[in-house]
Amino acid sequence: MTAKYSRIAGTGSFLPQKILTNADLEKLVDTSDEWIRTRTGISQRHVAAESETTTDLAEQAARRAIEAAGISAADIDLICVGTTTPDLVFPNVGTLLQDRLGIHGCPAFSLEAACTGFVYALSVADKFVRLGESKCALVVGAETLTRIIDWNDRGTCVLFADGAGAVILQPSAEPGIISTRLHSDGKYKDLLTYPDGVSKGFKLVREGKASVQMRGNEVYKVAVNTLGQLVTETLNANNISKSELDWLIPHQANLRIIEAIAKRLDLPMERVIVTIDTQGNTSAASVPLALDTGIRDGRVKRGQLLLLEAFGGGFTWGSALIRY
Ligand code: COA
Repeated sequence: MTAKYSRIAGTGSFLPQKILTNADLEKLVDTSDEWIRTRTGISQRHVAAESETTTDLAEQAARRAIEAAGISAADIDLICVGTTTPDLVFPNVGTLLQDRLGIHGCPAFSLEAACTGFVYALSVADKFVRLGESKCALVVGAETLTRIIDWNDRGTCVLFADGAGAVILQPSAEPGIISTRLHSDGKYKDLLTYPDGVSKGFKLVREGKASVQMRGNEVYKVAVNTLGQLVTETLNANNISKSELDWLIPHQANLRIIEAIAKRLDLPMERVIVTIDTQGNTSAASVPLALDTGIRDGRVKRGQLLLLEAFGGGFTWGSALIRY
């Protein structure tokens, strides 16, 4: 019999060792610790070493999730990675990760939905498990976003960071993942973009002019509105009232955005997992990093109702309602 749902069997995450504080950034650009903390909520962030790739971070997070789930790597029959900063154009990070874990033959891929990458990957893997095509799926969000930042641009370099988070999904008769909701709208493509790539010929990269471009203030407004609608839509679609939620586990882009969404849900900040202060915006890694943080420090408990949400370049946005 096909199990009706997928459930999270274990989580893991990994942050590179190197820490960049706001004081460090004060030496690079015209900014201040006070400005960064009050406008974004960030005090420090982790940055990958020169030799450290997205797959390196993903591997550590995956190994921790495998251990937490009490499985062995050989049990995994699907690998789905959300990332915007792959090591290579191909093979994809999923396949590189598969090789690191010594797994051979199962489907492995990465998908790119900017900061919503993990929620997209989770939604895809959930469907494989529900359809009976996967009995043990590894879902990862991993990024080395600091690689594509202009360290002279104070509007972006204070925000982004590196890291990875992972979950193991297994079939379950009970939810588990209750629902995922995914959205995208390319009309916002110019508000947040890395404007170069393979078929553009890497022209800007070759000229040393490629970096994340962001119209921060406009992104902020659309993010607050869109995420506000998304959380309401998610609860309504599942006949869940705000008061039933135990935890909001949001994408960590800006503390003020997180606070606005918590307010929309009438949730006190004690019911929100916040990692942005120490981790910055790790793009697709931020939601699984926050989830793993909450689980490992004992705040998020089995049986509780979690609302995950993310928003990123595209724009893309999405949510997952989960009975942990
Ligand atoms: N340090 C000091 N001053 C800075 C600064 C920095 N790091 N970055 C920008 N400023 C300045 C601006 O130049 C501007 O100066 P001006 O008034 O003299 O022109 C002033 O601060 C206000 O800029 P503004 O962009 O309006 O600030 P803001 O309150 O909107 O905060 C962001 C900027 C980027 C923190 C905020 O817009 C934001 O978080 N946006 C969303 C970003 C996001 O979520 N991106 C990822 C989506 S996944």
